[in-house]
Amino acid sequence: MAELNGKVPVITIDGPTASGKGTVASRVAEALGFHYLDSGALYRVVGLVCLRNNVPLDDMAAVTAHAMAIKPRFAGGRVTLGTEDITAAIRTEEVGQAASRAAVISSVRDALAELEKNARRAPGLVADGRDMGSVIFPDAPLKVFLTASAEARAHRRYKQLIEKGLDVKLSDLVSEMKERDLRDMRRAHAPLAPAEGARILDSSFLTIEETVEKVLYWWLECTKR
Ligand code: CDP
Repeated sequence: MAELNGKVPVITIDGPTASGKGTVASRVAEALGFHYLDSGALYRVVGLVCLRNNVPLDDMAAVTAHAMAIKPRFAGGRVTLGTEDITAAIRTEEVGQAASRAAVISSVRDALAELEKNARRAPGLVADGRDMGSVIFPDAPLKVFLTASAEARAHRRYKQLIEKGLDVKLSDLVSEMKERDLRDMRRAHAPLAPAEGARILDSSFLTIEETVEKVLYWWLECTKR
């Protein structure tokens, strides 16, 4: 079935910020016993490292050098860099903004593409991000573009950050989210857009469980073909 053309199967889940990609992708991976790639976390690690080292995010050469050097480890839902657990540190909006600024640099994207492609391991991979279906895994048998209204996304992100104990304002979040979405959609390299052949899934009025079910149903259809 899914070992299409002898290749390890991949399900890509792309979409704008706070569309629920991460939660949905990791649950789909768990249900299928597949590996999970959070490609946004890689961009966030680059953003964090640049902020910490006072690297201006428009200094393409310096940002690229950091992107080429990072060796984050992902295990048990935690992200570590060297000996430091950076799981919480990469989730701030400041780091999200820095990540999206680093993400416009094509040489940064090339550096991370290598790490992303290496995550394709048996028995399968669920990859979430912005360009997983369009650029990194164009041969994925199932590509999903997960979206939701700006309002639904802002409320979800707000809840997520408040639960983590971070002090945020909903109004700030809405404007930061819009700024990041626009930058992601307008950039020249791998702009945020549904990949060719992607199925669009609007989760504004769906629960996480319903969204996961839908993706699993589509996957079942793919494997029967
Ligand atoms: O948490 P959120 O969905 O807002 O973002 P993320 O998936 O953690 O990604 C952070 C930033 O990295 C995004 O705003 C994008 O600019 C960038 N990114 C990208 O360009 N390509 C990817 N495949 C994943 C993330």
